[in-house]
Order: sequence, then structure tokens, then C-alpha cells
Amino acid sequence: MQTTENDIQNVPQTQLDNRLAKSKPIKLGWSTEETERISIVLNELLANYSVHYQKLRNYHWNVKGSDFFDLHLEFEEQYNEARENIDVIAERIRVFGKTPLSTMRDYLEISEIKETTTDLKSDIMVREILSDYRILLQYMFSVVGVAIDQNDSGTEEMTKKFINSIEKHHWMLSAFLSK
Ligand SMILES: [Fe+2]
Repeated sequence: MQTTENDIQNVPQTQLDNRLAKSKPIKLGWSTEETERISIVLNELLANYSVHYQKLRNYHWNVKGSDFFDLHLEFEEQYNEARENIDVIAERIRVFGKTPLSTMRDYLEISEIKETTTDLKSDIMVREILSDYRILLQYMFSVVGVAIDQNDSGTEEMTKKFINSIEKHHWMLSAFLSK
């Protein structure tokens, strides 16, 4: 059917009533309690991931020995992935109008993952990273739990991608240790 000029004139200028059209932008559908709840678990994950990221850089720079080439490269690939995921998590917190933790002080205070020295043997570095994965996965499962509980498919999908990837890294580094 052809659109006539009359039809266009009958289309309302906005689907919002006057009050909504002039007020602040409409929020996403979650309650204050829900956005608070999801940002707490996301910030905990962010803090842990940020400490883990710096550990990967530490090990990338400081690994020594016959595994150097393998691990130097592996740690680099992983810190690049971690950097991207950290950014996605922080921006997800902004989606909810909340503030992502952004200082090293906050990360170190909240993170269950702890920093280490630089002079570790390569297999201990790998064990440290494997232990980090277990901790990261626990925080990711918490995020997924809260997300599912409040029908937050966006956060759920985001975090499940991280889980799949960490589990794959876990397999690979475990295989490396059993060589
Ligand atoms: Fe490098």
C-alpha cells in the first residue's frame, strides 16, 4: 500500500508522552537493587581480572629457561585477551549507570587473586595462572548466577564467553605442565 501525505501527518512525532519525552533518558528495566547487585559481582570480577592481567605481564617479561619462547608468547596472548575482557566488564558496569573500580589500590584490596614476585620458575608461573583461573571462574559463575536470576541476558552471555575461553586456557596450560 502506498503511503500518502495524510498518513505521514497522522504519525505521532514521538511514541513518548510529553512528560517522558522531556524527562531524563529512560533507564533500562532493572531496579536500583538489581543494578547494585550485578555491579557488585562485576566489580569483584573486574578487580580479580585486573590483578591477573598484571601477573600475566609480569610472567611475560620475566619468564626464563627452556620454556621461554612458548610461555613468553602464551602469556602475551592471554594478557591481550584479559585486557579486552576487562574493558568489556568495566563498560558493562557503566551500562548499568554504575562506576567500575578503576584504581590499582581498589583492585589489590578487593582481589582474591594475589600478586607474586618476578623470579618464579616457569612451571610455578603456570601453576599460579592455573590457580588464578579457578578463582576467576568462581567469580564468573557468581556473575552468571546473578544475571540469570534477574533476566540479564546481556551480562550472562558476555560472562559465558569468558568462561569458555578460560576453561580452554586451563586445559592448555594443564597439558603444558604434564609434558
Ligand atoms: Fe612483549
